[in-house]
Amino acid sequence: MTMSADELRRKYLDFFESKGHVIVPSARLVPENDPSTLFTGSGMQPMVPYLLGEPHPSGTRVSDSQKCFRSQDIEEVGDNRHTTFFEMLGNWSFGDYFKQEQIKWMWEFLTAEIGLDPNRLFFTCFRGNEDIGIPKDTESAVAWQNLFSTAGIESGIGDCPEVDGMRSGEHIFYYPDKKNWWSRSGMPANMPVGEPGGPDTEMFWDFGIQHGLHERSAWKDEPCHVNCDCGRFVEIGNNVFMEYVKTENGFEKLPKPNVDFGGGLERMAVAALDLPDVFVCSLFTRTRESIEALSGKTYGEDEKDAYAFRVVMDHVRAATFLVGDGVIPSNTDQGYVLRRLLRRAVRYADMLGVPEGKFSELALSVIGTYGEAYPDLVARRDQIVSEVEKEEKKFRETLFRGMKEFEKKMLTGVVSGGDAFELFSTYGFPLEMTQELAAERGLSVDADAFKDEFRKHQDLSRTASAGKFKGGLADHSEQVTALHTVTHLMLAGLRKYLGDQVHQAGSNITEERLRFDFTYPEKVSRETLDQVEAFVNDAIGSECEVSMEQISKEEAKARGVEGSFWEKYPDTVNVYTVRKDDGSIISQELCGGPHVPNTSAIRGKFRIAKEEASSAGVRRIKAVLE
Ligand code: ALA
Repeated sequence: MTMSADELRRKYLDFFESKGHVIVPSARLVPENDPSTLFTGSGMQPMVPYLLGEPHPSGTRVSDSQKCFRSQDIEEVGDNRHTTFFEMLGNWSFGDYFKQEQIKWMWEFLTAEIGLDPNRLFFTCFRGNEDIGIPKDTESAVAWQNLFSTAGIESGIGDCPEVDGMRSGEHIFYYPDKKNWWSRSGMPANMPVGEPGGPDTEMFWDFGIQHGLHERSAWKDEPCHVNCDCGRFVEIGNNVFMEYVKTENGFEKLPKPNVDFGGGLERMAVAALDLPDVFVCSLFTRTRESIEALSGKTYGEDEKDAYAFRVVMDHVRAATFLVGDGVIPSNTDQGYVLRRLLRRAVRYADMLGVPEGKFSELALSVIGTYGEAYPDLVARRDQIVSEVEKEEKKFRETLFRGMKEFEKKMLTGVVSGGDAFELFSTYGFPLEMTQELAAERGLSVDADAFKDEFRKHQDLSRTASAGKFKGGLADHSEQVTALHTVTHLMLAGLRKYLGDQVHQAGSNITEERLRFDFTYPEKVSRETLDQVEAFVNDAIGSECEVSMEQISKEEAKARGVEGSFWEKYPDTVNVYTVRKDDGSIISQELCGGPHVPNTSAIRGKFRIAKEEASSAGVRRIKAVLE
């Protein structure tokens, strides 16, 4: 079936709308008020409060297509199925339907709506884990089995395919919690207390071929099986039955069982086309054609070029969306990831022969592709192009210095793995480029030593991000909740003393401090900051009630409720109001929560520690409770 990815996105949302779901807009790629992670990496992330039991303003059935970014996948990009940015199609049941409905609907969607041949569909289910008292998910396995029967396929249910291989006639397999359990921090043993998770059933499409690029040793050393990661079977969706929460005493059931479904739009689109390469999906067509026109090369003609094409297509798309959501290249956090993406993309575009100065045209091709589904990109076109151009220019300056460094290293007559790694990490030289430069001078590079260095570095950064994640689950702690309410009070104070042009432009809260970006064109005087501090401290001292109500977006606008990113909210919104005893309103804002019930729960004195520029027209405040 020839169906564009835009059509597939529409079909999926229409399908779930017909099953009683309310379609909600995508959240931003940079999470609000969630210090646990730099990026929105799954559709479920913005839904955590509702999975834990808060009422979702749109009800118990919700569906969307969520922009996602996974920085851990940067080095994986280049094969047929990994991208850093992707859209995750999602549907949720918040204590509404469960396994039977979800599995039946997914089968209907995959086979009837997008026309996938059931003979080439495979499913995996949770094998159970006695140690944590969670049983085997036979209900899901049998549900799939019955659906195969309706298509005239009698499927067995296999166990241990990772050891025994797959037996013919089996389309359903049990795997342990390493594979068939989902939470934001992975398998049960890795979950922090308070984190929701559950068994999942994953859906795979059999492309039926062995891939040339990025072959995994697993393909050669082990029997191939649905989850072996060789690329023959590609996961196109994951149904998580999120009904547990980790506690001090092990796993307990959540108040209500939830469904969290996530499916990669691009992967589903190429499964429907039966083309084993996400980069041939329609969402990449314009960018691919731009690269072809600028470089004179054709995607798919040469394997090495194909790798570079994929890196450029992926990274330019991700970078465009990140700038669109307010990220600016820098040396920290989200900005650093964006910088890495852009530099890597420029290098690979150079290798393909995209002329210097033309690189930003590729970002324009991404905006052209997505303009209709994501009008924000069009609105921010000038800023996106300008950031991409600036970063390209900066990189070319470093590249120049890197070449000098390279020449110096050459004088010693060898390029060690450590040298190659330094050129990579400091100057952004990909190993292949260092190898090519060395070969031109009759030298070789110790690639194994480079890879050792690389792995060491990767382990270090993994440790760093694991630490970040753990600390970050602070978002459910009392202090983070208190600072979140304080953020509302502070915004109300800023608007009172600086005027209505002030709106939130970003927010990040940890247990120690709040960081808040807001729209304002110039430096805020210390006097005004003092007034805002006094306003907030007065509200804290006045024991104001904090209440939440659900009203229509139109009504909220009409009432003058404060909010930014209105377009990101569904038609019904949660409005949080902070009121003094006499009924006067201190703050009224659109928000997903959570908040303290009364400002008397906020301990300490509020102080603005720092006010500085964040980006053009945006100021940043760091503030604490002490
Ligand atoms: N939250 C699940 C995932 O990201 C659906 O795979």
